Amino acid sequence: YKRVTVKTLVDMKANGEKISMLTAYDYTMAKIVDEAGIDVILVGDSASNVMAGHETTLPITLDQMIYHASSVIRAIDRALVVVDLPFGSYQSDPKEALRSAIRIMKESGAHSVKLEGGKEIKDSIKRILNAGIPVMGHLGLTPQSIYKFGTYTVRAKEEQEAKRLIEDAKMLERIGCFAIVLEKIPAKLAKEVAESVSIPIIGIGAGNGVDGQVLVLHDMLGMTHEFNPRFLRRYMNLYEDMTNAISKYADDVKNLDFPNDSEQY
Ligand code: KIV
Ligand code: NA
Repeated sequence: YKRVTVKTLVDMKANGEKISMLTAYDYTMAKIVDEAGIDVILVGDSASNVMAGHETTLPITLDQMIYHASSVIRAIDRALVVVDLPFGSYQSDPKEALRSAIRIMKESGAHSVKLEGGKEIKDSIKRILNAGIPVMGHLGLTPQSIYKFGTYTVRAKEEQEAKRLIEDAKMLERIGCFAIVLEKIPAKLAKEVAESVSIPIIGIGAGNGVDGQVLVLHDMLGMTHEFNPRFLRRYMNLYEDMTNAISKYADDVKNLDFPNDSEQY
């Protein structure tokens, strides 16, 4: 695919081609992710943790999300860019939700937005969709509601919560969302959801019965090392490689090894 669109993703699901998605929050990283051929780049509100060092995703602001998104957009040639609506920018009422989504689209040039939640934010999602802005849903573990749940453990293990999640997923498809992220739920349930809707289901900690996978870039590159959920596969140990490179540089400076004769004017 030359340029990934929301239509491409729905076609990929229909053709049984899995969707790859990663987060990015800045120009340099987004350029690498895009050139490596990732289908979807998520400017996640995980930037609150990864980029700003907050304990939760709640503090990041709409202005900060727009800054991250516009940096990512400048790097992209192919991937579809999805931007999280941050906590507090869409929960009050549908008008506020639409206003926030419009700001993201206008000020960053992003292609779509993502909101956490099901039927409680249905009217807000409809309002955004009515303005022609593609919406990705997010169900299961929804980190913006962390203080309601108290923990980041697996969601929808109970029958009732599982039923509600399936209903929410069907509702999101019905009103016109182009895809849904399912975070940290049993693999069996995620597979059932993926089989009961025709829009792509992108999983994180939701097993391999879904239509695509997403991870936080800095986690899968091994830059972070305190966060160790079972679903996280580390493809590199960048924490170690970077630490070694940086200490080597510090040593070289102290030992007058850097710069050498050919590294000066
Ligand atoms: O903010 C984020 O990184 C996310 C993904 C984990 C789905 O929402
Ligand atoms: Na998020």
